Amino acid sequence: MQIIKTSSYRKLSKKANEIVVDAVFKNPNLVLGLATGSTPLGLYQLLIKSFKGGKIDFSKVKTFNLDEYYGLKKNDSQSYSYFMDKNLFSKINIKKENIHILNGVAKNKKEECAKYEREIKKAGGIDLQILGIGADGHIAFNEPGSLLKSRTRLIKLKEQTRKDNARFFELKKEVPKFAFTMGIATILEAKKIILLAGKNKKEIISQVLKTKINPQIPASFLKLHPRCIFIVEE
Ligand code: GLP
Repeated sequence: MQIIKTSSYRKLSKKANEIVVDAVFKNPNLVLGLATGSTPLGLYQLLIKSFKGGKIDFSKVKTFNLDEYYGLKKNDSQSYSYFMDKNLFSKINIKKENIHILNGVAKNKKEECAKYEREIKKAGGIDLQILGIGADGHIAFNEPGSLLKSRTRLIKLKEQTRKDNARFFELKKEVPKFAFTMGIATILEAKKIILLAGKNKKEIISQVLKTKINPQIPASFLKLHPRCIFIVEE
């Protein structure tokens, strides 16, 4: 695992932007894994800027988002689908058919997850996966206790995670109790991974770096990946 320390959130986002721009330049058909949360927002703003400046072309890029709240429709303003559209997709030239996000209101939950895994395989696998990290060490919505072999599935969110994410909702009780998430095994199959963590994640990042692989700190599984970079704000 490589660690890049940056002195500000702006520099962290800039470094991540450089990696994505370079990856799409080298492979215009890149399969890009995307994350939500506030941490990647700086990266998304820079990607929009890079697109407007002619430095990146998303016309052949395919994306797969990590997760989605269970029970929220695509057009719900708290859904990750809505978040992605507002903060990135509506401002770049990505084709609608190349965007993949789990359907929070899928009737057949098992089939929705199995279909997502099939779609990732059909696209040739994820080339570059962007990750954030939860205060409890979760990646995507793989909460503590998630297994190394876990695949895309429905998961019950921990109270801590619901509390942390309540800032995006009017009331805490509105935060869904369940979510669809890619699994640890799904994430580790990405060819390259970059995890972004601002200074508010200092505590959990130092725990991840210190610990051996530990399912109670899901991000520690990333140590098994040969091409994983942590870009952190010091
Ligand atoms: C949510 C998302 C994660 C994200 C985490 C941290 O739980 N499912 O993918 O990493 O939030 O979010 P933030 O960057 O806002 O701290």
